Amino acid sequence: METPVVSLDTDKERENVYEPSEDSFLLIDALEMDLKDIKCREPLICMEIGVGSGVVITALAMALKKYCAPHFLGIDINPEACQLTRKTSTANDVNIDVVQMDLLTALCKRNVFDLILFNPPYVVTEPSEIMGDDLISKAWAGGEKGRQVMDRVFPIIPDLLSRTGLFYLLLIKENEPHAIIDYFKNLNISGHIVNERKIRGEHLFVLRFEKER
Ligand SMILES: C[S@@+](CC[C@H](N)C(=O)[O-])C[C@H]1O[C@@H](n2cnc3c(N)ncnc32)[C@H](O)[C@@H]1O
Repeated sequence: METPVVSLDTDKERENVYEPSEDSFLLIDALEMDLKDIKCREPLICMEIGVGSGVVITALAMALKKYCAPHFLGIDINPEACQLTRKTSTANDVNIDVVQMDLLTALCKRNVFDLILFNPPYVVTEPSEIMGDDLISKAWAGGEKGRQVMDRVFPIIPDLLSRTGLFYLLLIKENEPHAIIDYFKNLNISGHIVNERKIRGEHLFVLRFEKER
């Protein structure tokens, strides 16, 4: 998969938006490894939660453009991230609708998403750190076990994913990937680790989930 051009040009962008990092690229690598399978499923609607610079969803949109040309939706709580994702998609010649919102609060849950991507704020912090107004700390502060933001999304995944949909989730060891796999098992969604890497003191994982049939 081609890496999109992402330019954090202004001080505002550099100060407020999560710059593509090892975690972003590990998620892109996982999508690249699964690309054949993703294409075979002919996704119609793909969504990324927490787009940041837009690097991940833009890479996917570029890779799928010539095949099934699905609709892409990106969401982020950070208005600067939404703006930058629009810029990134335009610079790389793909269309992505970007909506500023808190997780999935404004979406109808109608089992329409064929692909959901989420590289959440996963760092273990004091619970109070996720409440601040600082935009950049919203990119990484995950509260207790690093799970406080992502845990809000998990219960609604079954209502969002289509019958053949896939959900890709980036985690670190401290988030307890195996406990998350067990949590989804109870919702009749099976998951496994598709990619992992140890880098600079972090053990990163990408998990892939799909509905049991
Ligand atoms: C670790 S960054 C990932 C950015 C990008 N997807 C990447 O991989 O480079 C997490 C992103 O989630 C966004 N985010 C945090 N809390 C959110 C919330 N409650 N609703 C929507 N987006 C949120 C942050 O603003 C940030 O852009």
